[in-house]
Amino acid sequence: MDVNKIYCMDCLEGMKELKDKSVDVVVTSPPYNIGIKYNKYSDNLSREDYLNWIEEVVKEIKRVLKDDGSFFINIGYTAKDPWIAFDVANVIRKHFKLQNTIHWIKSIAIQKEDVGNYPNIIGDIVVGHYKPINSDRYLSIMHEYIFHFTKNGDVKLDKLSIGVPYQDKSNIKRFGKNKDLRDRGNTWFIPYETIQYRDKDRPHPATFRFPFP
Ligand SMILES: C[S@@+](CC[C@H](N)C(=O)[O-])C[C@H]1O[C@@H](n2cnc3c(N)ncnc32)[C@H](O)[C@@H]1O
Repeated sequence: MDVNKIYCMDCLEGMKELKDKSVDVVVTSPPYNIGIKYNKYSDNLSREDYLNWIEEVVKEIKRVLKDDGSFFINIGYTAKDPWIAFDVANVIRKHFKLQNTIHWIKSIAIQKEDVGNYPNIIGDIVVGHYKPINSDRYLSIMHEYIFHFTKNGDVKLDKLSIGVPYQDKSNIKRFGKNKDLRDRGNTWFIPYETIQYRDKDRPHPATFRFPFP
């Protein structure tokens, strides 16, 4: 298989073409099995069949991944079925170590009184987009998980490549070894782009957009 080429095929079939321990990083967002209407794929398996399929994929990922490789899996959940993400993580747990849990934040409300004297925050703010839940039981869901699995839990990361500048510049000397970058941490605010027309601007039913060019 060629590098930097997109193969539009079943992931298990595709991975069969790859040699053992030949892959540096796997980034995936499988179907969540929450009844989304895709063109071909049925998103309504029994939980048992779904988790069995996830496990088959995970075993194949383990085979192709290098020993110091990383496996990132993005998975969401619904208000009525909040265990999906954890059930999937628990299956993967049999084969990998959970090294990091990243929270993909899609929307957040920040009140000025909670942050105190931050020069850039001059009032209450609400940023990002989410699908409101019309319910008096459930809160609207504004985040998903990105689990970072590795074979032994000891893979070194170049954290500052996605670092953020210090808010208080006096910390550059104190903690930053004279570099104005600190660890971003595990809450990543990645909003959906503002769209006007769902069909035209977001044609895929489960869009996944990172702010890459
Ligand atoms: C939660 S969505 C992720 C969407 C993706 N992140 C994007 O933005 O295009 C799951 C995707 O997995 C695809 N899929 C389902 N079964 C698959 C399989 N066996 N092999 C490869 N892809 C599959 C679905 O068609 C769907 O596009």
